[in-house]
Amino acid sequence: MSKKYTITAALPYANGPIHIGHMAGVYLPADIYARYLRLKNKDVVFVSGSDEHGVPITLKAKKEKKTPQAVVDHYHERNKKALENFGISFDIFFRTSDQRHHQLSQKFYTHLAQKNKLILQESEQFFDEKNQQFLADRYIQGTCPHCHYKKAYGDQCESCGKSLNPQDLLEPQSMLSGKKPVMKKTKHAYLPLNQYQSFFQEWILEREKHWKKNVYGQCKSWLTSGLSPRAITRDLNWGVEVKIDTNVKKVLYVWFDAPIGYISATKVWAEEKGKNWKDYWQNKSTKLVHFIGKDNIVFHCIIFPAMLQAHGDYVLPENVPANEFLNLEGKKISTSQNWAVWLEDYLKKFPEKQDVLRYVLCANAPETKDNDFTWKDFQDKNNNELVANLGNFVHRTFTLVHKHFEGRVPFLSELTSQDKEVIQHYKIIPQKISQAIAQYKFREGISYIMELAHLGNKYLADTAPWKSIKQKNYQRAGSILHICIQIIHYVAILAAPFLPDTSKKLQNMLLCKTTWLDIDSGVTLPGNHILEKPLLLFSKIELSP
Ligand code: 2FM
Ligand code: ZN
Repeated sequence: MSKKYTITAALPYANGPIHIGHMAGVYLPADIYARYLRLKNKDVVFVSGSDEHGVPITLKAKKEKKTPQAVVDHYHERNKKALENFGISFDIFFRTSDQRHHQLSQKFYTHLAQKNKLILQESEQFFDEKNQQFLADRYIQGTCPHCHYKKAYGDQCESCGKSLNPQDLLEPQSMLSGKKPVMKKTKHAYLPLNQYQSFFQEWILEREKHWKKNVYGQCKSWLTSGLSPRAITRDLNWGVEVKIDTNVKKVLYVWFDAPIGYISATKVWAEEKGKNWKDYWQNKSTKLVHFIGKDNIVFHCIIFPAMLQAHGDYVLPENVPANEFLNLEGKKISTSQNWAVWLEDYLKKFPEKQDVLRYVLCANAPETKDNDFTWKDFQDKNNNELVANLGNFVHRTFTLVHKHFEGRVPFLSELTSQDKEVIQHYKIIPQKISQAIAQYKFREGISYIMELAHLGNKYLADTAPWKSIKQKNYQRAGSILHICIQIIHYVAILAAPFLPDTSKKLQNMLLCKTTWLDIDSGVTLPGNHILEKPLLLFSKIELSP
């Protein structure tokens, strides 16, 4: 059986729309990776979906006087469409409120419980007597003990940013009834992460030294502080229902069921395609890669792997190439403060320019540190790189070939040393891109596309085929243009993972059916091959002040 690749992209919460930070950090790199593997003929499944449980969703529903299901139905459809419009090529975009996900999560939980991999423990938690309900940390508000902000939440003060325990709040209040909550005993299931301390120490710290520095560093610091048991059930009405040792209804902690969403998505996809989902999750040779933002590192590097390890049948991630954050004009992107560029709004303002945003976000991806998105940089990258470099090179070459060679690829004749140098240069680019992608260095990968365009422009300027044409030396001019067309051919194929729409346009212009594998084996566009007329690939963007 061929090796399988299971690529996951963090499930976005279905309580708000998707912005450029999500795109740059998670969906774009994951998509580039999945597209690249498919082009290399690998057996890939690329999954994501909506994360539809958790307290923020119930709070939003309460605020909007809707049911949680109505809230997630709305955002699931919107987010699915928005990601699709940017060419994110999921094999399936599933959702965690689907009953098939509930069933698989319940089965997973029961398997752990039956194998004695969970512990039950009692603790005291805030309870709203009026509503007869235990209160999640987010349902309790009170005065922050640090800065005295009056509306701090039970898990965090949004004014001073400190994380809190609900018991720390001064004058705690239930957000359901407004009343003072009381402490009451409750029992929950816990995943005893402390039992996996030495396993993680060996697995991550020793064996996975090649993981990205930011990811490795965060794991190391969690392990240095020591792992402790984590409650995996909650007293809530919204979520995947499970029973612990009594008949009291609990739901799974959202971070327990959400990553199982990757598995249920794969299962549903495989059933639709007549494949065996276990090949993508339970075969030792499968390569599992999680694309996430840095706030999700502990869940994907420690908690979910501990769940998989406890279960016993699953592979562990081979890599978790988490990104840092993208800021907007120097300020942290914030959904609640509406400080973001929403994908839907972008396409309204710049219709059909999805590749421009893909380009800018990839060229500026927060791979090693937080980065900043500015509209000025967006405009510069579009006007100076996409229009003036790539678009211009393609347009000049096509125009000359149509004007002087009847729209057919001219033949190659005797090569000068300069030609040889250029050919040598462009021929190593596929390998460089492959190496960059294999190391999750997508910024570097996309820079080689611009390098090809730059190489072509410089070659055109240096050799000036229009001068040879003037002197009626069609052989020399043809030879130069032949080489330029090969460079464009490389761009057309190699840009496909990064800029799928542009790649498609170029392939249509070149009337070529070549694949990445053909390029690897040295296939070229032969002399006399017919070309289409050039299409406008990019256009200048003027931004109003
Ligand atoms: O941080 C988030 O947006 C979460 N909804 C990510 C979940 S990823 C996974 F585990 F499903
Ligand atoms: Zn505070």
